[in-house]
Amino acid sequence: MPSSSSNFTLVVPRPSSGLDPTHSLVVETPKPREIPEGHVLIRVDRFGFSANNITYQALGEAPNFRYFEFHYVPTTGVVSPKRYGAIPVWGFGYVIASKSAIKVGERVYGYFAPTRYLTVAVDPQSITSYSFSIPRPHLPADRRPYNQVTRCAGDPLYNPDPIKEDLSMLYRPLFWTSYWCEDWLFHGFEQKYHGAKHFLISSASAKTAFALAYCYRRRIATHSELSGTKIIGLTSKKNLEFTRRLGLYDTVLEYGSFTESLEMDVSRGDGNWVFTDVAGNDDLNRRILKHFVAFNARDKLIAIMLGVTNLQPNAVSEASSIELMSPPKAGDTSNLPPSTTVAAQDEKLKLETFFTVEWLAQRRSKKGKHYLTVPQIAEMQGEAWGALMQDGKDWVRLERLYGPDNVREEYERIGREGLGPEIGQIWSLWEKKQETMLEGQKVTANL
Ligand SMILES: NC(=O)c1ccc[n+]([C@@H]2O[C@H](COP(=O)([O-])OP(=O)(O)OC[C@H]3O[C@@H](n4cnc5c(N)ncnc54)[C@H](OP(=O)(O)O)[C@@H]3O)[C@@H](O)[C@H]2O)c1
Repeated sequence: MPSSSSNFTLVVPRPSSGLDPTHSLVVETPKPREIPEGHVLIRVDRFGFSANNITYQALGEAPNFRYFEFHYVPTTGVVSPKRYGAIPVWGFGYVIASKSAIKVGERVYGYFAPTRYLTVAVDPQSITSYSFSIPRPHLPADRRPYNQVTRCAGDPLYNPDPIKEDLSMLYRPLFWTSYWCEDWLFHGFEQKYHGAKHFLISSASAKTAFALAYCYRRRIATHSELSGTKIIGLTSKKNLEFTRRLGLYDTVLEYGSFTESLEMDVSRGDGNWVFTDVAGNDDLNRRILKHFVAFNARDKLIAIMLGVTNLQPNAVSEASSIELMSPPKAGDTSNLPPSTTVAAQDEKLKLETFFTVEWLAQRRSKKGKHYLTVPQIAEMQGEAWGALMQDGKDWVRLERLYGPDNVREEYERIGREGLGPEIGQIWSLWEKKQETMLEGQKVTANL
C-alpha cells in the first residue's frame, strides 16, 4: 500500500490575516503516528476543486459559513491556525486506522481537508450502515450536513469506477441543491412552477446552474402541459460557447446584451418567469428587475437565490448577497424560506432563498401535503443520480492534478486567472505514481 512518512496539507490565508488571498502553501508535517480513542485516520486520495472552493477562502471567517472551522491547520514555520485555514473539499479516501466502530479498509466520501492524512472524530451515536458524523459542537446546526461521512459500501449511489468517483466529487455537492430546488418550484406552490413559462438562470455555465436546467428539462420532457416552457441561461461572454454547447438551455444570452434579445420580450402574455440567481451579482439583478419594470411585467418575475459565483476572495464585505444565505431562525414554522431584498433604485427585487434542508423536511413530514416516504425519496434520488451519471459524463472535461507542488501552483493560478467551467478538476496531494496504484485496491494496513 502506498504510504508516506510525511503529511502534506494545502493551506490558504484567512481574510483577517491581510495576506494575499491567492497565495497558498502546502505544509509538510509528519504522518500521524497515533490517533485518539474514538477517531479514524483517513487517507484522502482525491478531491474535487472548483471555483466554488475558492469562495470558501473569502467566506472562511464569515459568521454564516465558518469554512475554516471544519479542519485543523498545523502550526509550523510561518503557518498558524490564526493566519491560515484549510479549505474543505469533497473527496474520497480510505480509513487506514481506526479506534472506533468504523473498520480499517472502508472507502469513505466526505467534506475532507485538502491533505494526505486526515484524523477525524467519529460520533458513535451517528453510525449507520450508510454514514457516520464528525462531531463539531462548535459549529451551528445548519452546518451538520457537512459533518456526515458516507460509508461507500452502504451507499446505494456509490460506484467504485474511478471516473464515476470523479463525477461524484464534482456533482454531488451541488446536484441535490439543484434537484430539490426544481422539485420545490414544481410541487411547493399553489401553481406548478409558479405558473412560469420561462426559466431564467444566471451564471448559467456554473454546474449548479446547468444541473438545474437539466432538472427542468427532464421534468418538461415528461409533462405535456409544460411543453413550450423555455430555459434561458445568462452567462459571461467568455463562457457563452461552452454554455451553449451543453445543450441544456433553449437560449443562452450574454450579460452585456441579454435585455436586447427577443427571447427576453417579457411583455408577452404567456406565463410567469422564474429567475434563479446563481451569480449573486446585485448589479445584474438590478438590470433584470429594471427590464421587467420597463415592460410593465414586474408581477411576472419570481426570483430565487441559489448561489454567489461572483464572490471574489476577500470580497465578503462587497457581497451583500451572502446575507441571503443565512438559514431560517430556529422555530420558524413558516412554510417558505425567508425572503430578502436587493434594491433596484426605488424598486426592490425580492429574492427568495432556497434551502434544501427546509424543503426536504417538508417532503418528509407526514402531516404535510408534500409527503414522501424514505424509500420514495431514495428511489427518486437513485433514478436521478443514475441519469445524471449517464447524461452528464461529457459536460465537463475531467482533469486530474497530482502532488503538493502542482496543487499549490494551480490554486494560485486559479486565484489569479479563474477556472474555466469546461474543466472539472480533481486534485490529489499524492504523487501520480502513488495515487494510481491506489485505485480499486483494498487497504488492509494499520498504522
Ligand atoms: N445553496 C446551496 O446549497 C448551494 C449548493 C451548491 C452550490 N451553491 C452555490 O452555487 C454557486 C455555483 O457553484 P458551482 O460549484 O456550480 O460553481 P462552478 O461550476 O465552479 O461555477 C463556475 C462559474 O461561476 C462564474 N464565476 C463568476 N465569477 C467567477 C470567478 N471569479 N471564478 C470562476 N467562476 C466565476 C462563471 O459563470 P458565468 O460566467 O456563467 O457567470 C463560472 O463559469 C456557488 O456560489 C455555490 O456556493 C449553493
